[in-house]
Amino acid sequence: MNTPRIAFIGAGNMAASLIGGLRAQGVAAAAICASEPGAEQRHRVASEHGIQVVSENTEAVQGADVVVLAVKPQVMQAVCLNLASSLKPGQLIVSIAAGIGCASLERWLGNRAIVRCMPNTPALLREGVSGLYANEQVSAAQRQQAEQLLSAVGLALWLDNEQQIDAVTAVSGSGPAYFFLLIEAMAAAGEKLGLSPATALKLTQQTALGAARMALASDVDAGELRRRVTSPNGTTEAAIKTFQTGGFAELVELALNAAAARSAALAEELGQ
Ligand SMILES: NC(=O)c1ccc[n+]([C@@H]2O[C@H](COP(=O)([O-])OP(=O)(O)OC[C@H]3O[C@@H](n4cnc5c(N)ncnc54)[C@H](OP(=O)(O)O)[C@@H]3O)[C@@H](O)[C@H]2O)c1
Repeated sequence: MNTPRIAFIGAGNMAASLIGGLRAQGVAAAAICASEPGAEQRHRVASEHGIQVVSENTEAVQGADVVVLAVKPQVMQAVCLNLASSLKPGQLIVSIAAGIGCASLERWLGNRAIVRCMPNTPALLREGVSGLYANEQVSAAQRQQAEQLLSAVGLALWLDNEQQIDAVTAVSGSGPAYFFLLIEAMAAAGEKLGLSPATALKLTQQTALGAARMALASDVDAGELRRRVTSPNGTTEAAIKTFQTGGFAELVELALNAAAARSAALAEELGQ
């Protein structure tokens, strides 16, 4: 398969991460271009990644095999309506915008091959995870192209149906903030137990990283890992029992349900 030519519409944070990831994987600068209205951002991305960054979206998509829609959801409709007549039938559209469904994209762009993705912020460090959904027009080769694109910034997982995007948003899209919340709370509690702020924070951050690495590397589930470090009547058990008495698992479920419901509601609002 020839290297696909990729055009990014919008060269903000997420697009720049994807471009950086692709370049680090050895994708040639000449195979990537982007469009961006802000002159300063245009120059920054062009000089950092050695790619062409133009001001007109319609210019960027000329000759592209893959068009990545990387603008904010609020401007997506206007961007799509402006772009529709410049797109060619064989081009794959990849949207990374939160809350914009395939039906809306098809209404604005016409009946096309579309992959809708939900990445998350650790993509900035190439430690992201994305859920991907392809509509029926997407070919096997185009699925590979989309997967290669999102794999440049982390793990890419295919979904069976588009509704699962709301669940992905609830778990991993919004997920980094839940871990930040836990880090904040643990560091604050550590301080109250007499640690310096810096020590409490470092202990918490490194523990989060170490636990995530152990969970990823282990062949047993997180519950079993937890039981293995929870001796009867020990310190960990004292803390875990306190979490459980406070309804920790139920609270997490409620929080994720709220995020998924908000994701579905946003899709309704933004996709009109
Ligand atoms: N960041 C994340 O963690 C994350 C996670 C999941 C999904 N996403 C999705 O990724 C998309 C981009 O997010 P981001 O964080 O990268 O936002 P961002 O940094 O604001 O990037 C969007 C870029 O698009 C540019 N833009 C605005 N209007 C445009 C137009 N008409 N044509 C072309 N470009 C235009 C913006 O320029 P100006 O600044 O000059 O307006 C900005 O540089 C969003 O739809 C978001 O939902 C992001």
